[in-house]
Amino acid sequence: MNSTAYITDISEYNLNFSDITVKWNSPSNIALVKYWGKYGTQLPRNPSISFSLKHSFTVMEMTCKRAEFSPLLRIKYFFEGKTNNLFQQKIEKFLNQLLPIFPFLQYSEIEIESQNSFPHSAGIASSASSMSALALCLCTVSNALYVSENKNDNFLQKASYISRLGSGSACRSIYGGFSVWGESDCISGSSNEFAVPFPNNVHADFRNLQDAILIVSTSPKEISSSKGHALMEKHIFAEARYLQANNNLKNLVEVLQNGVFLKFAEIVENEAFTLHSLMMTSTPSFTLLLPETLQIIKKIQTKRKQGLPVCFTLDAGPNVHLIYPESAKVEVVQFIENELLMFCEQKKWIDDFCGSGATEFVDNQA
Ligand code: PMV
Repeated sequence: MNSTAYITDISEYNLNFSDITVKWNSPSNIALVKYWGKYGTQLPRNPSISFSLKHSFTVMEMTCKRAEFSPLLRIKYFFEGKTNNLFQQKIEKFLNQLLPIFPFLQYSEIEIESQNSFPHSAGIASSASSMSALALCLCTVSNALYVSENKNDNFLQKASYISRLGSGSACRSIYGGFSVWGESDCISGSSNEFAVPFPNNVHADFRNLQDAILIVSTSPKEISSSKGHALMEKHIFAEARYLQANNNLKNLVEVLQNGVFLKFAEIVENEAFTLHSLMMTSTPSFTLLLPETLQIIKKIQTKRKQGLPVCFTLDAGPNVHLIYPESAKVEVVQFIENELLMFCEQKKWIDDFCGSGATEFVDNQA
């Protein structure tokens, strides 16, 4: 597939339509091998793997009303019931870029209502869930308008491709379970253009992987991920990092199948520390870790040495994702309550786990 594959001519649409409303629930995801560094149009410098979450998601409803042609887009965007200028501008800019793929946008008035299951300030990246929800809504409206039936093949791949253009990591949110984005010899069908579901069998211990999100701080990020990706371009460790990510993915692919938790923890924690080391050693340098982040990490590593199957990963922020198999749930929740919540902002944490991917609401049912 090349980047022109989805370009659509307006004559391919039936523009004789009345209102179309579509609604999707799309999750956030947590990367185990991280994407950090990009080129071209949001193409990754290295492959990454993540799993989709269940409780951290965006619900988006899009209504498309037929209107006369206008070169300027007519978008009304509401976030949690209210207008939001920043998000509105971001979405308008993104939709303008997508006109060659969705020319119906210039023949419609679009209303978007979006809400997140997690509080806006919870320190969870919402761009993955919101951009994938937007992509799914656009692809669904587009499909409804096509004159011919044959445009529906590989709907999810197209949605993943569009999500990537909005926010790189969003392309992994379309599918349930594990997803891989970026070309890798060890994943058949992998691509830099879109994510694919992890194609191999996953060991039973890793199927219902749990993610306890320990909220250390809800303050806004000190650096946007776009700036972070850009800093990789002149980073002295860049080439070594891309090599390491490829090796970590290869090893993780094996571990996901053989179920060896200690090896899993070694790779996943190495990735989290690498992400933050790269930020701390870039020019300018950024330190997103807080003292509480390190205190939690120390506790998790000590607990693992005592025999509990726990490990951590980090996103581009100070909050800790405590990853563990479902079978350890009772003990891990006790561990969190007794030893970790004291380091969390207002003792906040989110009890999340591996979900089944994006779902469409049909007749208002997800
Ligand atoms: O999708 P972006 O551009 O917000 O970048 C996200 C990068 C990380 O979340 C830090 C890692 C990842 O692979 O999700």
